Amino acid sequence: MTNKIWVAEAPSNIALIKYMGKTEKSGNRPTNGSLSYSLDHLRTRVELSLRPDGQAGDQWAPLNRQGWQPLTLSTKGQERFLKHLQMLKSEFGFSAGFLVQSANNFPSDCGLASSASSFAALTLAGVRAIREMQGKMILTPNEISILSRKGSGSSCRSLFEGFSLWRDEGAERIDLGIGKLWHQVILVDDSLKAVSSSEAHLRVASSDLFNGRVERAERRLKNLIALMREKKWRQSFEICWQEFWDMHALFETSNPAFGYMRSGSLDVLNFVREQVWGKLGDGPLVTMDAGANVHLLYREDQADLARMMGRQLGEKWQVISNLS
Ligand code: PMV
Repeated sequence: MTNKIWVAEAPSNIALIKYMGKTEKSGNRPTNGSLSYSLDHLRTRVELSLRPDGQAGDQWAPLNRQGWQPLTLSTKGQERFLKHLQMLKSEFGFSAGFLVQSANNFPSDCGLASSASSFAALTLAGVRAIREMQGKMILTPNEISILSRKGSGSSCRSLFEGFSLWRDEGAERIDLGIGKLWHQVILVDDSLKAVSSSEAHLRVASSDLFNGRVERAERRLKNLIALMREKKWRQSFEICWQEFWDMHALFETSNPAFGYMRSGSLDVLNFVREQVWGKLGDGPLVTMDAGANVHLLYREDQADLARMMGRQLGEKWQVISNLS
């Protein structure tokens, strides 16, 4: 029995073209391709070790490490996490029990989802541990992405730096010729979501607006990739804006309807559209997840604008950012 600890970290990611809707009940296969940017400053760390008592079942515990904030996971959350590890073990015919410890470098109760970074980090650590003990080759990031997808769809885009493109099985890195982006998330609401994203994937199919959704998302995906490569920032902003409103409109027109948009979200969105893009003719890409918080992405040369907006928005809301 080894007392080795396998460590892996993975970033969160924010989608510009959204994964919303699944083609099958299980396996997290998306109805359309999606494109995301990895948020390197919002990370999960997973440490895996074999259970010292040699038992077969896996256990989860919060990880206490300096610089990392121990996760609080509900019983349901722990079960989902460990079920994914069990899937990895079955895939490779491995049976010994693990102790899984995990932590985020951001607070877990601030309204930022951590399922993408946690499932990606768990898949990385699990694959490394199992393959090493079996004396087999480690898989490629694309192969690991396919496995991660089975636990949480959006986590398959958290295995790469920069932009990731996910069409069906797993994601891959995509080079859009754009360097590092500055990221801010404006936390307008930190309450727990009333409708989980798993439930949202199911309910959107009941919206009248779901007709044509796949075609719209695929067209935007193709156009956004081309526009970003041509450095057409304003048109890229317009596509991202249309895309997150499309997703939120699906939520609001589902049966039964639900929604995440809050008055604070609208205040931030109006400010960015009217005061920033409207007055300067330039600004950040804007998007929202299945939540109330607003994500802003700036080009590297927009650091001053990002700082200025961070100060202004920070007067009212908490802003988490990768700007120093
Ligand atoms: O991976 P899930 O099932 O939590 O889906 C998340 C989907 C969105 O975050 C709303 C959009 C996306 O593409 O990340």
